[in-house]
Amino acid sequence: MSKNKFHLSALTAVFKKKAVAIEAKKAHYISGKESRRISRTNRRITNRIEKERKRKHVPESEYLSVMRDPNNVVEFDNVHTYFFTDIGTVKAVDGVTFDVPIGKTVGVVGESGCGKSVTSLSLMQLVQRPQGQTVEGEIRFNTGSKVYNIVKTPTSVMQTLRGNQMSMIFQEPMTSLNPVFRIGMQINEVLELHNPEMTKTEVKAKTISLLELVGIANAEGVYKMYPHELSGGMRQRVMIAIALACNPRIIIADEPTTALDVTIQAQILGLLRELKDKINSSIMLITHDLGVIAEMADFVVVMYAGRIIEKGTAEEIFKNPLHPYTKGLLMSKPIVGKKIDRLYNIPGNVPNPINMPDYCYFKDRCVKSIDVCNGQYPPMIKISDTHYVACYLYAAKEEK
Ligand SMILES: Nc1ncnc2c1ncn2[C@@H]1O[C@H](COP(=O)(O)OP(=O)(O)O)[C@@H](O)[C@H]1O
Ligand code: SF4
Ligand SMILES: [Mg+2]
Repeated sequence: MSKNKFHLSALTAVFKKKAVAIEAKKAHYISGKESRRISRTNRRITNRIEKERKRKHVPESEYLSVMRDPNNVVEFDNVHTYFFTDIGTVKAVDGVTFDVPIGKTVGVVGESGCGKSVTSLSLMQLVQRPQGQTVEGEIRFNTGSKVYNIVKTPTSVMQTLRGNQMSMIFQEPMTSLNPVFRIGMQINEVLELHNPEMTKTEVKAKTISLLELVGIANAEGVYKMYPHELSGGMRQRVMIAIALACNPRIIIADEPTTALDVTIQAQILGLLRELKDKINSSIMLITHDLGVIAEMADFVVVMYAGRIIEKGTAEEIFKNPLHPYTKGLLMSKPIVGKKIDRLYNIPGNVPNPINMPDYCYFKDRCVKSIDVCNGQYPPMIKISDTHYVACYLYAAKEEK
């Protein structure tokens, strides 16, 4: 009897172990051994890239390039930015191609985690290194006199471009401002760094005029204040003033209004729109909120799981959305004056970025899928010179 009992419990233990192993496989858990193997491979890859990047005296010919269209300030061309983590490679940006024309605003939209921030950080060469690396593609940046391939540009040269030719406005202004320095000093510092020829009086005058430009009424007073003395909206205005300090060719605004309440959000968007006409910089506006894009953008890029699934002019995307995901995003956007009981919610989740399927990444959430969707990932289909969509529904139409 006791022997039987022992057998039974041993058997149960074996089954349990097997069940755990199967569950682990399903959930993509990995063993310690596997994890160590992955980190060894990762180190080999990232060390090689870092070594290349840290070389001194790299000749310009290695990182200068030519724009496909000189009317663009930035061209993302088949950009792949990966994170080499101990549990596998996160393909955060996986073959992204789009242009930012001079003087225009391009909105990049998609659910959280789809690679919007990593795309913009790749342009600034601010992806978390060494695990984050742009491993393939070109990011061409047109300064007017030269064209840089950012992917190959050495860090020392990047330092002359960042904050000078390109600047960034982040979501949370409090973390970007230094709490122990007065507002005026923080803007002065940026001006002094990039314009060593300016006198102290000229720098102060320029800082005050920048604060006025971003709609701060009491500019002289705010000049002497510390960040904590300002409201969230005022701090974001200061961040915009800092971003404008050097007449950048492009301003990247990553969720610039997400941390603010609705009325302030509208004010900041109004300010950005006004500035857009005054400064002739291009803006790359990143947001999960299509409402923000509708108000601001000339062109829209829709991202899903690290790839672009649709892009076009704002009119094309808003009047004639084609991809089922873009349609879903538009349906989940509240419309002023339209009364509905519940907002639409796209069912399902974004796939695991470490184990992407071979077929269309949206298929498991798509209500329109057809037979061919079980095959390879769909190609980019040209609808017009500016409108492109990655979906088999339109490939079928093209062939007819
Ligand atoms: N430092 C990092 N290490 C590992 N994975 C990262 C890192 N930063 C971002 N990712 C991953 O890259 C993907 C894209 O992230 P992100 O660009 O921040 O998305 P979002 O569209 O919300 O801005 C996500 O799956 C995220 O988990
Ligand atoms: S390719 Fe197929 S599964 Fe993917 S979005 Fe289009 S219809 Fe849906
Ligand atoms: Mg983000």
